[in-house]
Amino acid sequence: MLYLDHAATSFPKPSTVLDAITAWYQELGVSADRGDSGRCATVRRGVQTTRAALGALVGVPAARIAFTSGATEALNLALRAVLRPGDAVLTTEFEHSSVVRPLRALAAERGVRLQILPATAAGGLDVGAARAALLAQRPRLFVFTHASNVTGAVLDAAALCAEARAAGTLTLLDASQTAGHLPIAVGADLVAASAHKALLGPPGLGFLAVRPELDLPAQKQGGTGSSAALDEQPTAWPQAFEAGTPNTPAILGLGAALRWLAATGIQERLAAALAHTDALAARLGADPDVRLVLPPAGARVPILSFVHRRYDPAELGAMFDAAGVHVRTGFHCAPWLHRALGTAGSGTVRLSPGPELSAADVQAAAAVVVGS
Ligand SMILES: Cc1ncc(COP(=O)(O)O)c(C=O)c1O
Repeated sequence: MLYLDHAATSFPKPSTVLDAITAWYQELGVSADRGDSGRCATVRRGVQTTRAALGALVGVPAARIAFTSGATEALNLALRAVLRPGDAVLTTEFEHSSVVRPLRALAAERGVRLQILPATAAGGLDVGAARAALLAQRPRLFVFTHASNVTGAVLDAAALCAEARAAGTLTLLDASQTAGHLPIAVGADLVAASAHKALLGPPGLGFLAVRPELDLPAQKQGGTGSSAALDEQPTAWPQAFEAGTPNTPAILGLGAALRWLAATGIQERLAAALAHTDALAARLGADPDVRLVLPPAGARVPILSFVHRRYDPAELGAMFDAAGVHVRTGFHCAPWLHRALGTAGSGTVRLSPGPELSAADVQAAAAVVVGS
């Protein structure tokens, strides 16, 4: 099988990730903060190593990293912790359902007022338009994705965070599509991301990073293994935002993935995956029936969306599947962007290669469509 769906979940994972997960199941089996044994101490060190590596990635102290079940949970917790009744919130047309849906729910529950910045005609986000909206509204929060999971367009997160700070607005960066590809320490107050995409960790894990000066109310209450005689959730991080037994094997697996990435070189991996994306674009773009849905020139992540004049994305998905190529079709959980892209009818076909593809693989994938 040819796997072209790394934007959803990277596959395969480095064998060291599987080793770390298996070692937990076979040899450890305990949580970091649920006992005083030597095993707990071993696990505690492993979890702390992963936390510290993520802290270094985001630019916050390790203690300000809370593990979550994924970016979705991290985004929900952050939005609920920050937004108060009647607050204004600025966001963008590029957002994933994991931002869109909690925002819609908070609009209904708390009267939060949304302003959505549109994509430009070229498929980017205009920093000047963001500045104008920030200064006009002075919203409580600006939440935005670092990269579109439909086109691969990378937003200028550092500039957007700087504009927000100048307007006195907090920023929440959804780094799910960039963590593991690009630097994500861009000055956001809060950062949410998944472990299972370009960070090469397992699914069912993500994290929320919060700047130390920001005091936020806990959104979930439960056991933390600390202050256990107290009825109230501890306010110290990371316990404030981590209630219940954590996904320890996934955290140890992510730690192994981060070490593997540091040793292998993130930039080389991204460059290889982008080269495959370009090769696919060149082959598919030569077919007059294909319309590529490209990001603007500039930074991007390895994603190629397209539509076809005669087949809708679902039909193309079936053709890819029959040829043994795993791709994604439809709206990619980004409900707002497709109007701007002219793909609101049935979305796009999305190819998101990893670095390990061969030239023959690129030919084989493109051959499913070209000339059909
Ligand atoms: C931009 C973006 N945000 C959030 C998510 C949700 O991530 P998770 O599956 O870890 O909850 C995704 C995953 O597809 C995504 O692409």
